[in-house]
Amino acid sequence: MNQHLQHIHEYIESSKHLSEDDKTMLLRYLKSADKDLLISDFKLERTEKVKRTTAILLEETIEELEQRRAAIEQTNTALSKSLDELKSAQAQLIQSEKMASLGELTAGIAHEIQNPLNFVNNFSEVSKELLEEMLEELKNGDTEEVNAIANDVIQNLEKILHHGQRADGIVKGMLQHSRKNSGEKEATDINILVDEYLRLAYHGLRAKDKSFNANLETNYDYSIGKINIVPQDIGRVVLNLITNAFYACNEKKKQGEEKASSLNEFQPTVNVITKKEKSQIEIKVSDNGNGIEKHIIDKIFQPFFTTKPTGQGTGLGLSLSYDIIKAHGGTLKVNSEPDKGTTFTINFPLNN
Ligand SMILES: Nc1ncnc2c1ncn2[C@@H]1O[C@H](COP(=O)(O)OP(=O)(O)OP(=O)(O)O)[C@@H](O)[C@H]1O
Ligand SMILES: [Mg+2]
Repeated sequence: MNQHLQHIHEYIESSKHLSEDDKTMLLRYLKSADKDLLISDFKLERTEKVKRTTAILLEETIEELEQRRAAIEQTNTALSKSLDELKSAQAQLIQSEKMASLGELTAGIAHEIQNPLNFVNNFSEVSKELLEEMLEELKNGDTEEVNAIANDVIQNLEKILHHGQRADGIVKGMLQHSRKNSGEKEATDINILVDEYLRLAYHGLRAKDKSFNANLETNYDYSIGKINIVPQDIGRVVLNLITNAFYACNEKKKQGEEKASSLNEFQPTVNVITKKEKSQIEIKVSDNGNGIEKHIIDKIFQPFFTTKPTGQGTGLGLSLSYDIIKAHGGTLKVNSEPDKGTTFTINFPLNN
């Protein structure tokens, strides 16, 4: 029994003033008070215990949370590191895509320059022989013949000058392409631009693969006049679309040759059209290649999507083209029928 209650208990028991009945009653109350006190003590102790365990649990939870926070921080650092790595890998790929189209251009340009160079070499050689002949005739005193030869030489030199200037123009054009893209719009004749890149793509492919051949069909709308575009950028789009078109019909031709089937008669054809419609310009590039399967057509504009064998394509051609056209306020759409061919259509607003 509680110490204080014990004192009261003893006091009651030894009291001479209380009746036996009163003593019994008072002692009963005392016992009951002692029981209540015991229960309260017990409850208090239990609450203490709960408090202690809760505190321990809380401490553990805080520790666990701290560990998780540290883990999340670590993941975040790793994620932002791999994001940085991805960004630099993407930049490298874009660069290599630029280099690839430069490679395609270079082969075409080499072909373009070779032609005037052949003229310059041939006419120089002929002129040298003519002048040697002229010296002979001078010795013979045949002035009539000397005159005739001199006129021929003048004509030849005019041709040499003409072809030299042509090569000069090609080199200047080349420098313009390699010039760091200013990103500025210039009034440009879209037909000349398209035709230039069409020839570059064609000769570029021919230079790589002598057996490559394709019909080129063009239909230009000469009423378009000059339009405001970034010529290098649109040139790249045209180059990408035409290279894809040549690739597609060349693949179909190769498959036909492998099977030695009626596809042997197949004639790869790429068709390029420019058209002015109300306040819009349209450029269409079509081919009669294998077409694009329904299940991949939604993916072709995604960066890095390619069906070319590993190492052959970056899969950036169309996604870059899409971005360039979008930056010009235009649209780039595709329409394809498996086995029949594919058409890409560019639309620009005229006053962009
Ligand atoms: N004219 C087309 N005919 C059939 N499929 C095409 C045509 N143009 C594009 N594709 C499909 O779209 C894919 C993506 O084209 P994209 O130009 O973006 O990359 P790529 O040509 O594969 O690679 P890269 O342009 O770097 O050489 C191609 O791999 C091909 O499957
Ligand atoms: Mg491509």
